[in-house]
Order: sequence, then C-alpha cells, then structure tokens
Amino acid sequence: MTLESIRYRAGSLQVLNQLLLPHQTAYDEIRTVQDAYEAIKSMKVRGAPAIAIVGCLSLAVELRAGVGGDDPVTFIRESLCHLTSARPTAVNMGRAARELMEFAENESMEKNSEQLRESVIAWIEDMLERDVNDNRKIGNNGAQHILSGVPRDSVTILTHCNTGSLATAGYGTALGVVRSLHALGRLKRVYCTETRPYNQGSRLTAYEAVAEGIPATLITDSMAALTMREMDITAVVVGADRVVANGDTANKVGTYQLAIAAKHHGIPFYVAAPSTSCDLSLESGRDIIIEVRPPEELTSINGVPIAAKGIDVWNPAFDVTPHQLITGGIITELGVFLPSELQAALTGRLTAL
Ligand code: MRU
Repeated sequence: MTLESIRYRAGSLQVLNQLLLPHQTAYDEIRTVQDAYEAIKSMKVRGAPAIAIVGCLSLAVELRAGVGGDDPVTFIRESLCHLTSARPTAVNMGRAARELMEFAENESMEKNSEQLRESVIAWIEDMLERDVNDNRKIGNNGAQHILSGVPRDSVTILTHCNTGSLATAGYGTALGVVRSLHALGRLKRVYCTETRPYNQGSRLTAYEAVAEGIPATLITDSMAALTMREMDITAVVVGADRVVANGDTANKVGTYQLAIAAKHHGIPFYVAAPSTSCDLSLESGRDIIIEVRPPEELTSINGVPIAAKGIDVWNPAFDVTPHQLITGGIITELGVFLPSELQAALTGRLTAL
C-alpha cells in the first residue's frame, strides 16, 4: 500500500487531512493559496517538505485557473509571502519561495503572462518528483552509513515525530532511512516516540509502519532513555526543519533530549534531511525562530480537556539540537556529512537565502 498524502492532478489539489488520522482517511480540497495557508497552519498537512510542496502546488492551482490576470508576478510574490508566514521554523517553504520568485522574475523578462504561468506551473509540478527522488537517495545513503558501522545482521532504530510519506511527497527522510533498511532486510525494529503534544509518532508514524508491515514499537517520549539502555538501539535517526551552517538542527520538540540521551549511551545520532532543509545563511541554531503553538494542544485532546483548568502553558513546536550531539552525521541526498563538513559540502549547491 502506498500512502498518498498529497493528491495532485493538473488544476486540482487534495491533501490527506492529518488531523483525522489514524481513525479517518479524508482528503480536503485545496482550491486556493488561502486554503493551503489554513491547512498548513492548522497542521492538516505538516512536515517541512510537505508544507513547501502543498504551498507551492496551491499556487499552481490558482495560476492554472488564471488568477493573477495580467500581472502573475505580483500574485506569485504576495502568495509566496503569505504561505511562508504560516509556519516559521521549517526553512523549506521559504527556500522554495525564494527560488520560485527568482525563477518567475527571470522568466517574466522574456515571456508573456500566459507563458510565464506555464513555466512556473511546470517548475512547481517538478517539486513532487524531486522530493521523492531525494528521499530515496537519503534512505539509501542513511541505510548504507548505519550498516557500515555495525557488525550485526540487523539494526534497531529509534525515531521521533513523523518524517515519512505523510511529511513529504513520498518515502520520507528519517523514516525513509528506516524504509530502506527494511527493504534491505536489515531492520530488526524501529521504536517510534509518541511525540507529544501533537502525537505525530503515535498517530502518523505508527500508521505508516502498520500500513507497510514495518516492525515498529510505540513508546512514550519519556521512555526514550530507558529504551536506549534496554533495547539495543543501533542509531537514533530524526528529521529536520532547518539545519544551519554549523550543523545545529531545529526539529520537533523532544529531539534535543533524544540527542543528549543518545550521547550518554554512546548511540550514534543522525539527522536525515534533504539539502533544501539546510540554511547556510544562519550561523548557529540560536538564530532559528521557534514556532510557539496554541496552549490547547497541551491542555486537550480532540477537544477533551486533560489538564487542570487555568494552568499556564508553554508549547514550543521545535527545539534545536546542538551540532556537537549529531554524532552519526547529517544524511542528505548528496551524502552523509558530519556537522563540521556540511557547509563545505553544500556551498555552491544551494541557492542563497
Ligand atoms: O510540526 P510538524 O509535524 O510539521 O514537525 C515535523 C518535524 O519536525 C519533522 O521531523 C520535520 O519536519 C521533517 S519531515 C520530513
């Protein structure tokens, strides 16, 4: 079974509503950039690569319908600016916006409005294929790197949040590494954390694992250190929302404590992400804006209160793992790099932000 989180045909876009998973499979129609903004903000669609792809595809849908009239460049600029503001921590939407705007401006020098629309739509549609291809390379690079470090036949991985088909155009990043290990017959088991407060692990990663027959065990976030000590974890592999020049990485809140625990237990800690999740314009993780989400995500589940009424809440959606704790490496489609190697490896291969 192949999970399809984004359904796109020329002029039509639907997203799998991840707020309803795993109990209901329902696709929501995205007709406008504003629909995409709301789906991203409310986390019907989430995961750094998926946010960028859905945002840009919503623009393609509107462009195909002729929105923007004689001045598509202004419409594209305003739409991308709006989409980028939906969730600030993941860099992918901002990077796509920057690259697409540059492309549109160059095209507008030689093409009329109609031709410009066509070429911008083609650029956007290409994102879907590029993302899946990159994820397959990440999966393979990560699997080979992990296996090269162990004498055993099979490995046990611990992962966090959801970084699979639901968070990307397909296959996934950190979960793509798990998929590749499974496909090679070398995965003993993956432990996935529940990932409070939004439960991407228990609702989404567990759903993907069960759907595909990947041997997986769900744990609460607070069981991670114990699992590392007791369950012979070979490596911890997580995704990324933004990897900056020194290798510091913003990812789902809870990642930082996993990296500390992995270091304590001598377990290699890997970040798996496409190069489009890297941001060399920021020197260190201190410069990353961390999204703070509504208190209700902590105080209730599906509208049912679970906390004492009146309690103050702090709900940062991400944390930053310092590069010193990323001991296994940063797995990209271009290869696996130590944090200290990242900048040199990507310079000239990424557009400036
Ligand atoms: O808040 P979310 O669910 O969008 O956070 C997702 C993560 O932190 C993922 O690990 C990251 O975006 C990588 S997804 C391939």
